[in-house]
Amino acid sequence: MSSVSFSAGLRAMSVPPFHAMTMSKRATDRAALGLNTMFLQVGQPSTGAPLGARRAVIDALEADRPLGYTNSPGLPALIDRIVRHYDDRYDVSIDAESVTIVAGASAGFTLAFLAAFDPGDRVGVLEPGYPCYRNALIALGMEPVPIPIGPETNWSPTRERLDEVGPLQGLVIASPSNPTGTVLDTTTIDDLVAYCDTRAIQLISDEIYHGITYGLPASTVVGRSPHPVVVNSFSKYYSMTGWRLGWMVLPAHLRDTVDRLQQNLYICAPHVSQIAGLAAFDCTDELDAHVTRYARNRDVLIDGLSRSGIVDIARADGAFYVYADVSHLTHDSMNLCHRWLDELGVAVTPGLDFDLDRGHRYVRFSYAGSLEHIEQACDSLATWNP
Ligand SMILES: Cc1ncc(COP(=O)(O)O)c(C=O)c1O
Repeated sequence: MSSVSFSAGLRAMSVPPFHAMTMSKRATDRAALGLNTMFLQVGQPSTGAPLGARRAVIDALEADRPLGYTNSPGLPALIDRIVRHYDDRYDVSIDAESVTIVAGASAGFTLAFLAAFDPGDRVGVLEPGYPCYRNALIALGMEPVPIPIGPETNWSPTRERLDEVGPLQGLVIASPSNPTGTVLDTTTIDDLVAYCDTRAIQLISDEIYHGITYGLPASTVVGRSPHPVVVNSFSKYYSMTGWRLGWMVLPAHLRDTVDRLQQNLYICAPHVSQIAGLAAFDCTDELDAHVTRYARNRDVLIDGLSRSGIVDIARADGAFYVYADVSHLTHDSMNLCHRWLDELGVAVTPGLDFDLDRGHRYVRFSYAGSLEHIEQACDSLATWNP
């Protein structure tokens, strides 16, 4: 026997877990044992793809279409439909050449980060914010630079906060945001775009929660400047998480590079999902009904949490999350989440996922799931004895 040993790469080993997925695994394992479990931990609709999307796929399968690779940037019909979507929804005209279909927003970030940055580049990520920006940047050898935001700025980034962190090559923003549900107003978006443009900071705007807002609709970065990258997806509003489908709107300076990366890393997004995605654009009634349901879930959750004394929450104007300060209960939200799951069957996500510094005081509740789970969870929390 030789004494050689194998291990994963050091950089990859330093990538932290995505705790929401770890909690999901624990919750589904628990449910599989027949234990009552309330799923408020993961940001995924409990509904499936809209009917029209499913029918389009059935038709394609019944017609025995080969469903081979598509062009790397995606099915031309889907790209054209996305161009029309920007016109219809935002009154912005974009070129078909700017659109690339990707295997979920997650693949979009990998492509955007690899295309725009070099190893060692400093890329601003908001804290709290979606953890995979930070973790994907680490995996790719770039340096995520946390930009702390909080209630004092309404959970929005400001010029002052950006100035404080020193020079950046990139900045990732999301509106509506995960985990706070914050929707950035148009003035803030314009200001961030101008800030980045004058400093040659590559702005990447994650617009995955567009369509899920409870007041004013979210504004897109598309059309405000020729430089930003926009990433969007079918996972949230379109209720198609497992189909792994998203799109990017790319500035001219990144298109060829992203195309070459996509050819080599993914070839193309899944063909069958692209067929479904195309049809999903015509399912607005069904999808808007989901948003009406989320609005009701949100009210019930906020009201229910207040019965447990959980009242210090970010104003949730979009997405489907409530980000709550639980420092009156714990300074170890990871432990709290494990206890709630073990003792009550309530699965939620520790704030540590979203904010390495202050997350131990916060918990994220997702209200994308069923109203019944939300009601049961609130009842259990109200009777819980810390
Ligand atoms: C803000 C944000 N961006 C991206 C993603 C991942 O999206 P996709 O399923 O399209 O890869 C998520 C998933 O929760 C998210 O919350």
